[in-house]
Amino acid sequence: MAQPVTDDNLAGQQSGSQLLCCKSIDKLISDSENPHHRLSKTLGPWSLTALGIGAIIGSGIFILTGTAAAGEYFRAPSLLHAQALDVIMNFLRTGSTAGALMHGRPPAGPSIAISFLLVAVACSFAGLCYAELASMIPIAGSAYTYSYATLGEIFAWIIGWDLILEYVVSNVAVAVGFAGYTKAQLAAFGLNLPDKWASPVWASGQWTGAYFNLPGFLIVFILTLLLVRGVKESAETNNIMVAVKIGAILTFLVVGGMLVKPANWKPFAPSGFAGIVTGGAIVFFTYIGFDSVSTAAEESRNPQKDLPFGIIMSLIICTLLYVGVAVVLLGMMKYTTFVSGEAAEAPVAYAMKYLGVHPFFRSVIVIGALTGMISSLLVFQYGQARIWYAMSRDGLLPKLFSAVHPKYKTPHWSTWIACFAVGIPAGLVDIGDAADLANIGTLFAFVLVSLGVILLRRRQPDRKRAFRVPFVPWFPLISVVLCGGLMLGLTLITWLRFVIWLALGLVIYIFYSRHHSEFCKKNRAIG
Ligand code: ALA
Repeated sequence: MAQPVTDDNLAGQQSGSQLLCCKSIDKLISDSENPHHRLSKTLGPWSLTALGIGAIIGSGIFILTGTAAAGEYFRAPSLLHAQALDVIMNFLRTGSTAGALMHGRPPAGPSIAISFLLVAVACSFAGLCYAELASMIPIAGSAYTYSYATLGEIFAWIIGWDLILEYVVSNVAVAVGFAGYTKAQLAAFGLNLPDKWASPVWASGQWTGAYFNLPGFLIVFILTLLLVRGVKESAETNNIMVAVKIGAILTFLVVGGMLVKPANWKPFAPSGFAGIVTGGAIVFFTYIGFDSVSTAAEESRNPQKDLPFGIIMSLIICTLLYVGVAVVLLGMMKYTTFVSGEAAEAPVAYAMKYLGVHPFFRSVIVIGALTGMISSLLVFQYGQARIWYAMSRDGLLPKLFSAVHPKYKTPHWSTWIACFAVGIPAGLVDIGDAADLANIGTLFAFVLVSLGVILLRRRQPDRKRAFRVPFVPWFPLISVVLCGGLMLGLTLITWLRFVIWLALGLVIYIFYSRHHSEFCKKNRAIG
């Protein structure tokens, strides 16, 4: 069917190449209103905020705070396992490859609280950019959709493919963490799950003899049943889980706060600014998730106003809670305690146990931590399915991915595909590097979204924006620099895996998506 030719329709054609075709924002919005694909609009501002908090507070705050404060030094086993920036700096400093491999993280000590604040600042620059684009392009698909409207089809594909990596890998990590944590807690009550059915099949580069990590798979499976059933039901369940985990963190702040010894806060920043920055690179993982608010654009009642509110409010609330946990935890015990063993793996639980906190309060915290992981899994599974869905609606993935359940009005096929994409690896592997891979995917998305704001302000200055980033282009540029800096803090093997993933995506684009892109079929019709 030929389309009426408007300036917007022609945006891609004028570039002269399918790769740089930009989808019209009006068309994106009208496509989303198509009754065959329409999602039901049930989410208000606080449900969106809860969605953000649900995704942000997962396993990270309960696990990473201690090791980020304690730091670690080692010689990287190979160039691939060293941090990209470290390798360059150490090579320039020592002039030798061996010197380039000396690697480690100086301890942040109690100043990890400042790291949390700094990362929050970096995330808020990106968050403001997400808020502007989400308020003007309120469509499922988040950064993928924004790139399609601003940078062109090939960038949209790259970012969509990148977001799949971010969501799948971080959820595999959280599901594996959930399985390990559940197993340990049940064992504390004398209930031992069989190792063969509750351990990773492949860990530390070798087979373990286990058959499958069933708890990791089952939690994802159960959440999928809920997600297919309906967004409203899922959002209500999420609200309850968010209340439980915030309650648990507040309990920790009060109970732990009474055990603080101010002497533990000294020295406050044992490695100065270097410790604060490297601590920040570790705890970045704890903030991943606020961008998932924007994936709920089409199910939001008033997206133009409520999405920016949800994104920014969830960031503020989580930052306050994170800084509070850091201050209390590092006041309860000296930062050097968390350098290895149980204290490094589960610092919050360890400090409570070591200081003899009443079992009731300890159980409240454990339940809160488990609930935190479940809600993080829920929101990431939700967001992931919306990205598969949006890419399929544009023809870049098979149509099956955008089928909507006739009764529940949810993208059920995408939701099930997301279940197996996360659940099966979660049953098999123990991904030590999963957090790093999720970090690089997320940071790359932040960079593209920030560039998208600058571009769209130039290309479509008059389009209505319910929320505007102040000081453009400076704020988005600061976001690009801060996120790019954090990317340099990741290991070369992470960069390599990231490049391989993107290359695989390009092969799929060249052999499938390019030929099925709905946008280009329409262009041919116009021509
Ligand atoms: N931000 C999430 C977490 O900390 C991914 O688990």
